[in-house]
Amino acid sequence: MPQHHTIFFLGATGFLAGDVLHLLGRDYPNYHVKALVRNPTPERVAKLKQLHPNLTVVEGDLNDAQLIADQAATADIVINSASSDHWPSVKATLDGLEKNAASRSSDPPLYIHISGCGIISDNIRGEKVENPKFWSDIGLDLKDCDQSNTHLESDIPIVAAGTRKENPIRSIIIYPGQIYGVGRGVQKTTLWLRIFMDYAKRVGYVGTWGRGFNAQNTIHVEDMAAAVLFIFKAAVEGRAEEGANGLYFAVTDKILSYGEWTKLMGDHLYSKGVVKEPGCKPMSPEIVEPLGNYGWSLLGGNLFAKADRLARMGWKAVESSKVSLMDNLPEAIDAALEDDRPYVHIS
Ligand SMILES: NC(=O)c1ccc[n+]([C@@H]2O[C@H](COP(=O)([O-])OP(=O)(O)OC[C@H]3O[C@@H](n4cnc5c(N)ncnc54)[C@H](OP(=O)(O)O)[C@@H]3O)[C@@H](O)[C@H]2O)c1
Repeated sequence: MPQHHTIFFLGATGFLAGDVLHLLGRDYPNYHVKALVRNPTPERVAKLKQLHPNLTVVEGDLNDAQLIADQAATADIVINSASSDHWPSVKATLDGLEKNAASRSSDPPLYIHISGCGIISDNIRGEKVENPKFWSDIGLDLKDCDQSNTHLESDIPIVAAGTRKENPIRSIIIYPGQIYGVGRGVQKTTLWLRIFMDYAKRVGYVGTWGRGFNAQNTIHVEDMAAAVLFIFKAAVEGRAEEGANGLYFAVTDKILSYGEWTKLMGDHLYSKGVVKEPGCKPMSPEIVEPLGNYGWSLLGGNLFAKADRLARMGWKAVESSKVSLMDNLPEAIDAALEDDRPYVHIS
Protein backbone atom coordinates (compact mmCIF):
# COMPACT_ATOMS: atom_id res chain seq x y z
CA MET A 1 0.00 0.00 0.00
CA PRO A 2 1.21 3.57 -0.68
CA GLN A 3 2.22 5.87 2.18
CA HIS A 4 -0.63 8.33 1.67
CA HIS A 5 -4.00 6.68 1.62
CA THR A 6 -7.42 8.05 0.96
CA ILE A 7 -10.00 7.17 3.60
CA PHE A 8 -13.69 7.58 2.79
CA PHE A 9 -15.31 8.15 6.21
CA LEU A 10 -19.04 7.77 6.86
CA GLY A 11 -20.41 9.27 10.09
CA ALA A 12 -17.53 11.70 10.75
CA THR A 13 -19.71 14.07 12.78
CA GLY A 14 -20.82 11.25 15.11
CA PHE A 15 -19.91 10.62 18.74
CA LEU A 16 -17.40 7.78 18.29
CA ALA A 17 -16.04 9.22 15.04
CA GLY A 18 -14.92 12.41 16.81
CA ASP A 19 -12.46 10.50 18.98
CA VAL A 20 -11.42 8.20 16.12
CA LEU A 21 -10.69 11.15 13.81
CA HIS A 22 -8.65 12.80 16.56
CA LEU A 23 -6.41 9.71 16.80
CA LEU A 24 -6.21 9.39 13.01
CA GLY A 25 -5.21 13.05 12.86
CA ARG A 26 -2.52 12.46 15.48
CA ASP A 27 -1.06 9.27 13.99
CA TYR A 28 -1.99 9.48 10.30
CA PRO A 29 -2.07 13.21 9.46
CA ASN A 30 -0.95 12.56 5.88
CA TYR A 31 -3.86 10.31 5.06
CA HIS A 32 -6.56 12.14 3.15
CA VAL A 33 -9.90 11.75 4.95
CA LYS A 34 -12.94 12.36 2.73
CA ALA A 35 -15.84 12.74 5.13
CA LEU A 36 -19.44 12.26 4.05
CA VAL A 37 -21.41 15.00 5.82
CA ARG A 38 -25.10 15.71 5.26
CA ASN A 39 -25.19 19.15 6.80
CA PRO A 40 -21.76 20.76 6.34
CA THR A 41 -22.25 24.05 8.17
CA PRO A 42 -19.04 26.11 8.55
CA GLU A 43 -18.94 25.27 12.30
CA ARG A 44 -19.21 21.52 11.72
CA VAL A 45 -16.59 21.56 8.95
CA ALA A 46 -14.20 23.66 11.07
CA LYS A 47 -14.55 21.21 13.98
CA LEU A 48 -13.84 18.25 11.68
CA LYS A 49 -10.74 19.93 10.27
CA GLN A 50 -9.56 20.56 13.83
CA LEU A 51 -9.74 16.82 14.45
CA HIS A 52 -7.87 15.84 11.30
CA PRO A 53 -5.63 18.26 9.37
CA ASN A 54 -6.08 16.57 5.99
CA LEU A 55 -9.88 16.23 5.93
CA THR A 56 -12.18 17.36 3.17
CA VAL A 57 -15.95 17.12 3.08
CA VAL A 58 -18.10 15.27 0.57
CA GLU A 59 -21.59 16.67 0.99
CA GLY A 60 -24.15 13.90 1.00
CA ASP A 61 -26.61 11.70 2.81
CA LEU A 62 -26.51 8.00 3.67
CA ASN A 63 -29.29 7.53 1.13
CA ASP A 64 -27.17 8.91 -1.75
CA ALA A 65 -26.24 5.44 -2.99
CA GLN A 66 -24.47 6.52 -6.19
CA LEU A 67 -22.32 9.07 -4.39
CA ILE A 68 -21.31 6.55 -1.72
CA ALA A 69 -20.58 3.84 -4.28
CA ASP A 70 -18.42 6.24 -6.33
CA GLN A 71 -16.41 7.30 -3.28
CA ALA A 72 -15.96 3.69 -2.11
CA ALA A 73 -14.85 2.72 -5.63
CA THR A 74 -11.84 5.04 -5.47
CA ALA A 75 -10.79 5.09 -1.78
CA ASP A 76 -8.02 2.90 -0.36
CA ILE A 77 -9.90 2.50 2.92
CA VAL A 78 -13.52 3.01 3.95
CA ILE A 79 -14.45 3.52 7.60
CA ASN A 80 -18.14 3.46 8.45
CA SER A 81 -19.11 4.82 11.86
CA ALA A 82 -22.47 6.17 10.70
CA SER A 83 -25.08 3.53 11.30
CA SER A 84 -24.91 -0.17 11.96
CA ASP A 85 -28.53 -0.41 10.85
CA HIS A 86 -28.66 1.45 7.54
CA TRP A 87 -28.34 -1.32 4.99
CA PRO A 88 -28.77 0.87 1.85
CA SER A 89 -25.58 2.82 2.64
CA VAL A 90 -23.68 -0.37 3.47
CA LYS A 91 -24.88 -1.94 0.22
CA ALA A 92 -23.75 1.13 -1.74
CA THR A 93 -20.37 0.94 0.03
CA LEU A 94 -20.00 -2.75 -0.81
CA ASP A 95 -21.00 -2.12 -4.45
CA GLY A 96 -18.33 0.56 -4.78
CA LEU A 97 -15.72 -1.54 -2.99
CA GLU A 98 -16.40 -4.47 -5.32
CA LYS A 99 -15.60 -2.29 -8.35
CA ASN A 100 -12.58 -0.99 -6.49
CA ALA A 101 -11.35 -4.54 -5.77
CA ALA A 102 -11.87 -5.53 -9.41
CA SER A 103 -9.64 -2.67 -10.56
CA ARG A 104 -6.74 -3.53 -8.19
CA SER A 105 -6.90 -7.23 -7.41
CA SER A 106 -3.36 -7.39 -5.97
CA ASP A 107 -4.13 -4.62 -3.46
CA PRO A 108 -7.84 -4.79 -2.52
CA PRO A 109 -9.42 -1.96 -0.52
CA LEU A 110 -9.93 -2.20 3.24
CA TYR A 111 -13.38 -1.76 4.79
CA ILE A 112 -13.64 -1.13 8.56
CA HIS A 113 -17.27 -1.20 9.64
CA ILE A 114 -18.48 -0.24 13.12
CA SER A 115 -21.34 -2.50 14.15
CA GLY A 116 -22.40 -3.30 17.73
CA CYS A 117 -22.88 -6.06 20.30
CA GLY A 118 -26.60 -6.01 19.47
CA ILE A 119 -25.84 -9.03 17.26
CA ILE A 120 -25.51 -11.22 20.39
CA SER A 121 -28.67 -10.08 22.19
CA ASP A 122 -30.55 -12.82 24.04
CA ASN A 123 -33.79 -10.86 23.60
CA ILE A 124 -34.71 -11.34 27.26
CA ARG A 125 -37.00 -8.26 27.30
CA GLY A 126 -35.48 -6.76 30.43
CA GLU A 127 -35.90 -9.87 32.61
CA LYS A 128 -33.41 -11.57 34.94
CA VAL A 129 -31.43 -14.48 33.56
CA GLU A 130 -29.32 -17.01 35.45
CA ASN A 131 -25.97 -18.00 33.87
CA PRO A 132 -26.13 -15.79 30.77
CA LYS A 133 -24.06 -16.76 27.75
CA PHE A 134 -20.79 -14.89 27.14
CA TRP A 135 -19.79 -14.68 23.49
CA SER A 136 -16.18 -14.69 22.28
CA ASP A 137 -15.20 -13.08 18.99
CA ILE A 138 -12.71 -15.87 18.33
CA GLY A 139 -14.54 -18.51 16.34
CA LEU A 140 -17.62 -16.28 16.12
CA ASP A 141 -19.91 -17.21 13.24
CA LEU A 142 -22.61 -14.61 12.60
CA LYS A 143 -24.96 -17.41 11.62
CA ASP A 144 -24.95 -18.55 15.29
CA CYS A 145 -26.54 -15.27 16.40
CA ASP A 146 -30.30 -14.89 16.70
CA GLN A 147 -31.03 -13.83 13.12
CA SER A 148 -33.69 -11.35 14.24
CA ASN A 149 -30.98 -9.29 15.98
CA THR A 150 -29.99 -5.82 14.86
CA HIS A 151 -26.95 -5.12 12.61
CA LEU A 152 -26.79 -8.60 11.04
CA GLU A 153 -28.55 -7.42 7.88
CA SER A 154 -25.37 -5.45 7.05
CA ASP A 155 -22.74 -7.58 8.79
CA ILE A 156 -23.45 -10.87 7.01
CA PRO A 157 -23.02 -9.36 3.50
CA ILE A 158 -19.84 -7.55 4.67
CA VAL A 159 -18.25 -10.85 5.73
CA ALA A 160 -19.45 -12.40 2.46
CA ALA A 161 -17.66 -9.61 0.55
CA GLY A 162 -14.52 -10.26 2.58
CA THR A 163 -14.52 -14.01 1.94
CA ARG A 164 -15.78 -14.41 -1.65
CA LYS A 165 -13.50 -15.79 -4.37
CA GLU A 166 -14.16 -13.07 -7.00
CA ASN A 167 -12.94 -9.58 -6.13
CA PRO A 168 -12.86 -9.98 -2.34
CA ILE A 169 -12.39 -6.88 -0.24
CA ARG A 170 -10.48 -6.72 3.06
CA SER A 171 -13.27 -6.63 5.63
CA ILE A 172 -13.13 -5.89 9.33
CA ILE A 173 -16.15 -5.43 11.60
CA ILE A 174 -15.75 -3.93 15.08
CA TYR A 175 -18.39 -4.49 17.77
CA PRO A 176 -18.40 -1.85 20.51
CA GLY A 177 -20.07 -2.46 23.85
CA GLN A 178 -21.97 0.39 25.51
CA ILE A 179 -19.75 3.40 24.77
CA TYR A 180 -19.76 6.18 27.37
CA GLY A 181 -17.93 9.43 28.09
CA VAL A 182 -18.11 12.88 26.54
CA GLY A 183 -16.92 12.92 22.94
CA ARG A 184 -14.37 15.34 21.57
CA GLY A 185 -15.96 15.71 18.14
CA VAL A 186 -19.06 17.38 16.71
CA GLN A 187 -21.46 15.08 18.60
CA LYS A 188 -20.56 14.95 22.29
CA THR A 189 -23.28 12.52 23.41
CA THR A 190 -23.30 8.78 22.90
CA LEU A 191 -26.17 7.36 20.86
CA TRP A 192 -27.97 5.40 23.61
CA LEU A 193 -27.97 8.39 25.98
CA ARG A 194 -29.59 10.51 23.26
CA ILE A 195 -32.30 7.85 22.86
CA PHE A 196 -32.99 7.68 26.62
CA MET A 197 -32.89 11.49 26.99
CA ASP A 198 -35.43 11.81 24.21
CA TYR A 199 -37.83 9.33 25.84
CA ALA A 200 -37.34 10.88 29.28
CA LYS A 201 -38.21 14.36 28.02
CA ARG A 202 -41.31 13.03 26.27
CA VAL A 203 -42.69 10.82 29.06
CA GLY A 204 -41.48 12.76 32.11
CA TYR A 205 -39.43 9.96 33.70
CA VAL A 206 -36.48 7.76 32.78
CA GLY A 207 -37.83 4.49 31.44
CA THR A 208 -36.54 1.02 30.63
CA TRP A 209 -37.51 -1.60 28.09
CA GLY A 210 -39.06 -4.18 30.42
CA ARG A 211 -37.78 -4.31 34.01
CA GLY A 212 -34.20 -3.32 33.17
CA PHE A 213 -32.35 -6.37 34.51
CA ASN A 214 -30.62 -6.80 31.15
CA ALA A 215 -26.99 -5.72 31.02
CA GLN A 216 -24.00 -5.29 28.75
CA ASN A 217 -20.27 -4.61 28.73
CA THR A 218 -19.23 -0.97 28.81
CA ILE A 219 -16.27 0.92 27.32
CA HIS A 220 -15.08 4.53 27.59
CA VAL A 221 -15.07 6.40 24.27
CA GLU A 222 -11.32 7.06 24.53
CA ASP A 223 -10.67 3.32 24.84
CA MET A 224 -13.14 2.57 22.08
CA ALA A 225 -11.44 4.99 19.69
CA ALA A 226 -8.04 3.60 20.72
CA ALA A 227 -9.30 0.09 19.90
CA VAL A 228 -10.41 1.24 16.44
CA LEU A 229 -7.02 2.85 15.85
CA PHE A 230 -5.22 -0.25 17.15
CA ILE A 231 -7.08 -2.43 14.65
CA PHE A 232 -6.65 0.17 11.88
CA LYS A 233 -2.89 0.26 12.43
CA ALA A 234 -2.64 -3.53 12.41
CA ALA A 235 -4.69 -3.66 9.20
CA VAL A 236 -2.60 -1.00 7.44
CA GLU A 237 0.51 -2.97 8.41
CA GLY A 238 -1.07 -6.21 7.16
CA ARG A 239 -1.18 -7.79 10.64
CA ALA A 240 -4.91 -7.75 11.35
CA GLU A 241 -7.21 -10.71 10.94
CA GLU A 242 -9.78 -10.03 8.25
CA GLY A 243 -12.75 -11.62 6.49
CA ALA A 244 -14.27 -14.55 8.42
CA ASN A 245 -11.83 -13.84 11.29
CA GLY A 246 -12.07 -10.07 11.00
CA LEU A 247 -14.68 -9.73 13.76
CA TYR A 248 -13.59 -7.80 16.85
CA PHE A 249 -15.57 -7.25 20.06
CA ALA A 250 -14.36 -4.01 21.67
CA VAL A 251 -15.50 -4.11 25.30
CA THR A 252 -14.17 -4.12 28.84
CA ASP A 253 -15.15 -6.67 31.50
CA LYS A 254 -17.24 -4.05 33.30
CA ILE A 255 -20.87 -5.03 32.97
CA LEU A 256 -23.75 -2.80 34.00
CA SER A 257 -27.50 -3.39 33.99
CA TYR A 258 -29.87 -0.91 32.40
CA GLY A 259 -31.76 -0.66 35.70
CA GLU A 260 -28.63 0.58 37.50
CA TRP A 261 -27.64 3.39 35.18
CA THR A 262 -31.20 4.50 34.33
CA LYS A 263 -31.87 4.91 38.06
CA LEU A 264 -28.91 7.26 38.36
CA MET A 265 -30.01 9.05 35.20
CA GLY A 266 -33.53 9.51 36.60
CA ASP A 267 -32.19 10.87 39.89
CA HIS A 268 -29.87 13.29 38.09
CA LEU A 269 -32.53 14.55 35.67
CA TYR A 270 -35.00 14.91 38.55
CA SER A 271 -32.50 17.00 40.50
CA LYS A 272 -32.27 19.28 37.45
CA GLY A 273 -36.06 19.52 37.09
CA VAL A 274 -36.04 17.82 33.67
CA VAL A 275 -38.28 14.87 34.69
CA LYS A 276 -41.14 14.70 37.16
CA GLU A 277 -39.96 11.71 39.21
CA PRO A 278 -36.59 10.30 40.34
CA GLY A 279 -35.31 6.81 39.55
CA CYS A 280 -36.54 4.73 36.66
CA LYS A 281 -39.42 2.43 35.78
CA PRO A 282 -40.50 0.29 32.82
CA MET A 283 -42.09 2.19 29.96
CA SER A 284 -45.58 1.18 28.83
CA PRO A 285 -46.14 -0.74 25.57
CA GLU A 286 -47.61 2.30 23.77
CA ILE A 287 -44.32 4.09 24.35
CA VAL A 288 -41.83 1.36 23.49
CA GLU A 289 -43.65 -0.51 20.71
CA PRO A 290 -43.10 2.12 17.98
CA LEU A 291 -39.35 1.38 18.11
CA GLY A 292 -40.23 -2.32 17.71
CA ASN A 293 -37.58 -5.03 17.68
CA TYR A 294 -34.75 -2.47 17.49
CA GLY A 295 -35.66 -1.25 20.98
CA TRP A 296 -36.53 -4.59 22.55
CA SER A 297 -33.56 -6.48 21.15
CA LEU A 298 -30.88 -3.83 21.58
CA LEU A 299 -32.08 -2.03 24.70
CA GLY A 300 -33.90 -4.90 26.45
CA GLY A 301 -31.46 -7.77 25.88
CA ASN A 302 -28.26 -9.02 27.50
CA LEU A 303 -25.18 -8.43 25.32
CA PHE A 304 -22.29 -10.25 27.01
CA ALA A 305 -19.04 -10.22 25.06
CA LYS A 306 -15.37 -10.98 25.56
CA ALA A 307 -12.84 -8.99 23.52
CA ASP A 308 -10.63 -12.04 23.06
CA ARG A 309 -9.20 -11.10 19.66
CA LEU A 310 -8.04 -7.66 20.82
CA ALA A 311 -6.65 -9.16 24.05
CA ARG A 312 -4.69 -11.72 22.01
CA MET A 313 -3.18 -8.82 20.02
CA GLY A 314 -2.10 -7.10 23.25
CA TRP A 315 -4.73 -4.35 23.43
CA LYS A 316 -5.75 -3.06 26.86
CA ALA A 317 -8.37 -0.52 27.93
CA VAL A 318 -6.93 2.38 29.94
CA GLU A 319 -9.52 5.11 30.56
CA SER A 320 -12.36 2.70 31.41
CA SER A 321 -10.46 1.48 34.48
CA LYS A 322 -10.14 5.05 35.74
CA VAL A 323 -13.67 6.32 35.00
CA SER A 324 -16.72 4.03 34.95
CA LEU A 325 -19.98 4.67 33.11
CA MET A 326 -21.63 5.46 36.46
CA ASP A 327 -18.82 7.91 37.39
CA ASN A 328 -19.19 9.69 34.08
CA LEU A 329 -22.98 9.64 33.65
CA PRO A 330 -23.88 12.96 35.38
CA GLU A 331 -21.27 14.83 33.29
CA ALA A 332 -22.46 13.11 30.11
CA ILE A 333 -26.08 14.01 30.90
CA ASP A 334 -25.13 17.64 31.55
CA ALA A 335 -23.37 17.76 28.17
CA ALA A 336 -26.41 16.16 26.52
CA LEU A 337 -28.74 18.74 28.08
CA GLU A 338 -26.88 21.48 26.21
CA ASP A 339 -27.92 19.91 22.91
CA ASP A 340 -31.66 20.03 22.39
CA ARG A 341 -31.82 18.44 18.92
CA PRO A 342 -34.30 15.53 19.11
CA TYR A 343 -33.12 11.97 18.56
CA VAL A 344 -34.09 10.74 15.08
CA HIS A 345 -34.10 6.98 14.59
CA ILE A 346 -32.37 5.61 11.48
CA SER A 347 -34.10 2.60 9.99
N1 LIG B 1 -22.68 4.75 21.02
C1 LIG B 1 -22.66 3.50 21.42
O1 LIG B 1 -22.71 3.19 22.62
C2 LIG B 1 -22.58 2.40 20.40
C3 LIG B 1 -22.52 1.08 20.87
C4 LIG B 1 -22.44 0.05 19.93
C5 LIG B 1 -22.42 0.35 18.58
N2 LIG B 1 -22.48 1.64 18.17
C6 LIG B 1 -22.46 1.92 16.73
O2 LIG B 1 -21.33 2.70 16.43
C7 LIG B 1 -21.64 3.62 15.37
C8 LIG B 1 -21.33 5.03 15.87
O3 LIG B 1 -22.09 5.31 17.03
P1 LIG B 1 -22.23 6.81 17.55
O4 LIG B 1 -22.75 6.76 18.93
O5 LIG B 1 -20.96 7.53 17.27
O6 LIG B 1 -23.38 7.33 16.56
P2 LIG B 1 -23.82 8.81 16.21
O7 LIG B 1 -23.25 9.78 17.18
O8 LIG B 1 -25.32 8.77 16.10
O9 LIG B 1 -23.19 9.11 14.78
C9 LIG B 1 -23.88 8.86 13.60
C10 LIG B 1 -23.19 9.54 12.45
O10 LIG B 1 -23.83 9.16 11.23
C11 LIG B 1 -24.28 10.31 10.57
N3 LIG B 1 -25.55 10.07 9.89
C12 LIG B 1 -26.68 9.56 10.43
N4 LIG B 1 -27.66 9.54 9.50
C13 LIG B 1 -27.13 10.08 8.38
C14 LIG B 1 -27.64 10.35 7.09
N5 LIG B 1 -28.92 10.03 6.77
N6 LIG B 1 -26.82 10.89 6.17
C15 LIG B 1 -25.54 11.20 6.48
N7 LIG B 1 -24.98 10.98 7.70
C16 LIG B 1 -25.78 10.43 8.63
C17 LIG B 1 -24.47 11.36 11.64
O11 LIG B 1 -24.46 12.63 11.02
P3 LIG B 1 -25.19 13.93 11.67
O12 LIG B 1 -24.14 14.58 12.52
O13 LIG B 1 -25.54 14.75 10.47
O14 LIG B 1 -26.38 13.47 12.45
C18 LIG B 1 -23.27 11.08 12.49
O15 LIG B 1 -22.10 11.58 11.88
C19 LIG B 1 -23.11 3.38 15.03
O16 LIG B 1 -23.19 2.47 13.97
C20 LIG B 1 -23.65 2.74 16.28
O17 LIG B 1 -24.77 1.92 16.03
C21 LIG B 1 -22.55 2.68 19.05
